[in-house]
Amino acid sequence: MNKVQIMGTGSYVPPRIVTNDDLSCIVDTSDEWISSRTGIKERRISEGEDTSDMASKAALKALEQSKVKPEEIDLIIVATSTPDNFIPSTACLVQKNILAVNATCFDISAACSGFVYGINIATQFIRTGSVKKVLVIGAETLSKVLNWEDRSTCVLFGDGAAAAVLSESDRESILAICNGSDGSKGQYLVSKAVPVVNPYTDKKDIDVNVNSYVEMNGREIFKFAVKTILQSTEELLEKINCSMDEIKYIVLHQANYRIIEFAAKKLGVSEDKFYVNLDKFGNTSAATIGIALDEMNQKNLLKTGDKILLIGFGGGLTYGGIAIEW
Ligand code: UT7
Repeated sequence: MNKVQIMGTGSYVPPRIVTNDDLSCIVDTSDEWISSRTGIKERRISEGEDTSDMASKAALKALEQSKVKPEEIDLIIVATSTPDNFIPSTACLVQKNILAVNATCFDISAACSGFVYGINIATQFIRTGSVKKVLVIGAETLSKVLNWEDRSTCVLFGDGAAAAVLSESDRESILAICNGSDGSKGQYLVSKAVPVVNPYTDKKDIDVNVNSYVEMNGREIFKFAVKTILQSTEELLEKINCSMDEIKYIVLHQANYRIIEFAAKKLGVSEDKFYVNLDKFGNTSAATIGIALDEMNQKNLLKTGDKILLIGFGGGLTYGGIAIEW
């Protein structure tokens, strides 16, 4: 089996900062409510850039940092729940934008677990020798599927993208992987696509004006998140035969600071071990873990040999974790 190394990371968020106070001018909310219930202070909102635009910018930064040329990339995987189109895939749009002419491209849909699922898929492709270099991207323009009149969802999310270049190598970065899904709980986080309407359907029963607004049962997701974070952490530590003391950082999907607090308490770990940047970006779904990883990389927080855990959870419902040696 080939070894897999993370060569570099990149991220991009749109320049427009929207604060909690800004949102209190649109919906009946307050900085006090949002900060105390979630930890979020502000988020970035697209002023027109779509998912492929942000994904391409994050990808170019990751390539530059990795010193890998676009034409060396064999595979582009974009994890997104907010693609530009049904067809073509966002990954194909990125390919065109960054001139990764030799890549095979596809999108995956795993909501907030998307970046972790993407790294898992890339790892399997590299391990078997079928490709050498993969660009994994998590990118979302959630602002286009938010109901800006619904205070229970519009305050939580933000737009952004993150990328990582994975390559066949003589050093191993990916120590262990775990994944899972529970489709029976899918109704707790929904953004609908178009209904089936064609000349053969009975249009009377179909609401053709269906929207794609995000609808969420926050409490159920909260419970699922805490359960799967604990489960994934234990599974990863067991697989790599390490104690928590040997883990430098845990990078959770950035949805809510209270989830992080809760997980820290249940695991008996200091909150300092958890990297947090949701105060600045809110929940960017498939992009949060990659944005956090890139920020840590830029800040030089990660030294060669450091062990970190990445753990995602979200719509599907899905979850997944990766143990990495930097
Ligand atoms: O990436 C996908 C993963 N998603 C998540 O991880 C989300 C996990 N869940 C959560 O983070 C939390 O459940 C939320 C932050 C979404 C909600 O927090 P909560 O403590 O569960 O609040 P709640 O939904 O039970 O609402 C409590 C109250 C309600 O008012 P009443 O019925 O008690 O009068 C809401 O109407 O807060 C009200 N409320 C708000 N008030 C001011 C809901 N949203 C707002 C708001 N501003 N933005």
